[in-house]
Amino acid sequence: MNLVEHVESRREQHLQELCEFLRIPSISAKSEHKPDIPRAAGWVAGNLRGAGFKNVEIVPTHLHPLVYAESLEAPSKPTILFYGHYDVQPPEPLDLWTSPPFEPTVRGGKLFGRGTADDKGQVHIHLKAFAALQQANGKLPLNVKVLIEGEEEVGSVSLWDYVQKHKSKLQADALVVSDTSMLGPGVPSITYGLRGLNYYEIEIAGPERDLHSGVYGGAVPNPLTILAELFAKLHDKNFRVTVPGFYDEVAKVSAAERKALKALPWSPRGFKTAVGAPAYCGEKGFSIVEQLWIRPTLELNGIWGGYIGEGAKTVIPSKAFAKFSTRLVPNQKPEKIARQVESCMRKLLPKTVKLKFETLSTGKPWAAPFHAPIFQKAQSALQHGFGKKAVFIREGGSIPFVTQMYDTFKVPCVLIGFGLPDENAHAPDEHIALENYFGGIKAIAHFYADLGTL
Ligand code: BES
Ligand code: MN
Ligand code: MN
Repeated sequence: MNLVEHVESRREQHLQELCEFLRIPSISAKSEHKPDIPRAAGWVAGNLRGAGFKNVEIVPTHLHPLVYAESLEAPSKPTILFYGHYDVQPPEPLDLWTSPPFEPTVRGGKLFGRGTADDKGQVHIHLKAFAALQQANGKLPLNVKVLIEGEEEVGSVSLWDYVQKHKSKLQADALVVSDTSMLGPGVPSITYGLRGLNYYEIEIAGPERDLHSGVYGGAVPNPLTILAELFAKLHDKNFRVTVPGFYDEVAKVSAAERKALKALPWSPRGFKTAVGAPAYCGEKGFSIVEQLWIRPTLELNGIWGGYIGEGAKTVIPSKAFAKFSTRLVPNQKPEKIARQVESCMRKLLPKTVKLKFETLSTGKPWAAPFHAPIFQKAQSALQHGFGKKAVFIREGGSIPFVTQMYDTFKVPCVLIGFGLPDENAHAPDEHIALENYFGGIKAIAHFYADLGTL
């Protein structure tokens, strides 16, 4: 039986197994799910053993364990490091899910559930490709190291330490990741650039305690109003970020690259249906694709404070809070940007309040050339799985490990995404198209088999 037949004949089995993985609510951000995290790590480890990996470790960290495995039985063949994450985003708001987030369900050729696209479904594609190759040959045709972490969705905080301590262990000829998207349906894609991410939380404190807004209102500072004013000042009318120095180190994108991005089969129509806003805005002077992929941003992710319960409560809140982030592009430096943002906020705030500023995580941007031979192999593998030529794209999301790996080893990083931008990653009704999941297994099995012939 050839590889394709092997994969084709096990579609139902593969899907059932993925559902098992998806039922574990491995939400890295929430302490109430702490027991589910080792269950998911254990599931991954068991699955890797089933795929023929003999050395499989569950490595404890300060936060969530990571899973490391290796199969180094192909002397003189290339070594790849496959990276992915088993943790998922919180599923709330629950009432907006058509079927419950941790009860995976197929509807209309799509598998719904938290983690289907980001990233359990995509990790499973590789697990099944390894298993297929193992069963076909009794061993893998190339050397494989696997690193699946449980903190990606909270900023991969423990990973940096691990990478620094285990450099020779992680050394490989290339990094392979499936945690990104295809440009659109039927357009297999290889991603060569990601934005970086700094995530911040602030507290603005005014009165010592909550106050009756009739007794005190008019004569005391209101932290919520001040917070709203602060964020309103952080963009100008052209949607540029007003933090001084924010754009100073943004690399100029060459005319040739801008031309290539413009030529991609991308239309604003799909983007607009997916977003569904009444109208659109973005930094002046750049196309939507450029705004999403090559320009830095500052986004408010959540604000709270005061009374938000049922009915009315007349109160001046003592404190106001916000979570916000900056997406970064080459060559912005995360630490420098964090300092600039903090000092800008301190200057903008009136003396009537105190600011607590915390950077929760930082991640560097990444963009790299794609002329190494492995990229052609990836393109030809995608041709096999999808019958179409893959395009090279950049994306707006962030994967801290990719930059860490690239900076540490300067090896080719091959990002092959099987999600779609409108598959609701991080949102209710997350799903993955079954044709991309199954096409992915075919393409990746072919990719690894082909790398074994190098
Ligand atoms: N898989 C995404 C990153 C991604 C999504 C890359 C779409 C390209 C296209 C990843 O799981 C993610 O969500 N990353 C976070 C960053 C993290 C530091 C919290 C993100 O981008 O917000
Ligand atoms: Mn992801
Ligand atoms: Mn994610």
